[in-house]
Amino acid sequence: MSSLKLNDLSWAATQARGQPHWLLQNIDLQVDEGEFVGLIGPNGSGKTSLLRCAYRFNQPTGGSVTLDGQDLWQQTPRWSAQRIAVVLQEFPQEFGLSVTDVVAMGHTPHKGLFDSDTADDAARVEQALHNVGLTQAAHHAFATLSGGEKQRVLLARALVQRPGLLILDEPTNHLDPRYQLELLRHLRQLGLSTLASFHDLNLAAAFCDRLYVIAGGRIVAHGTPSEVLTTERLLQVFGVHALVDAHPLADCPRITWIPHP
Ligand SMILES: Nc1ncnc2c1ncn2[C@@H]1O[C@H](COP(=O)(O)OP(=O)(O)OP(=O)(O)O)[C@@H](O)[C@H]1O
Ligand SMILES: [Mg+2]
Repeated sequence: MSSLKLNDLSWAATQARGQPHWLLQNIDLQVDEGEFVGLIGPNGSGKTSLLRCAYRFNQPTGGSVTLDGQDLWQQTPRWSAQRIAVVLQEFPQEFGLSVTDVVAMGHTPHKGLFDSDTADDAARVEQALHNVGLTQAAHHAFATLSGGEKQRVLLARALVQRPGLLILDEPTNHLDPRYQLELLRHLRQLGLSTLASFHDLNLAAAFCDRLYVIAGGRIVAHGTPSEVLTTERLLQVFGVHALVDAHPLADCPRITWIPHP
């Protein structure tokens, strides 16, 4: 299991006339070993950009990203791929590949160029598909699956990768309520170090050990769900009125949006 640290990180996209456009500033964020950490914030606040910095896609303009104390950008892309698995918002266009093929791609970072898959690799793929409830779809074409099924296949691929750190960009956005809950319960049981962005704040509240709130490219709050998810902060950050009380059946806050305040 791994630990992740973003230390005073900033990131700028380069604009047409070479001017930096700062999209992330002064980000301090940590995921300890085995911790499940959520990242919440409005559309365009910088969640995906921050996650991209954490998995060695966006190179920080300032500050650093370290995994187990090693600076990601001092290591090779393969080093990162062997330790960090990612499930993104967008789906890859895997035309012609079966579900099993897509999940088996999770082995790639651990293989040499001419290594073929072993019986143990095949068993891992089968187990991962079982874990996401898609054993029946093993031989279906990936392209023909529904959005929610694709999401689950990509999670299975990430699990096959045997990561020390899992990064998930809105992992539940295509899933129906049953699979939202099943997926998050399953992820929690795995006990992996995880950093995930969420739009559904009730899911974030129920499943995350800690939350970071991002707005305008800056972390504006962090702490346990109860510390972070207050009526005032939700109004401040999302501009929406909410009732926040204790969930009657679970040990977490409950958010009820108020449509006509
Ligand atoms: N490579 C890039 N070049 C220019 N601007 C970018 C780039 N990547 C992201 N942005 C801008 O950065 C801002 C934050 O985008 P980002 O995708 O990180 O937001 P987000 O919080 O993930 O939003 P959402 O909730 O809609 O997924 C947006 O305004 C986006 O247009
Ligand atoms: Mg995003």
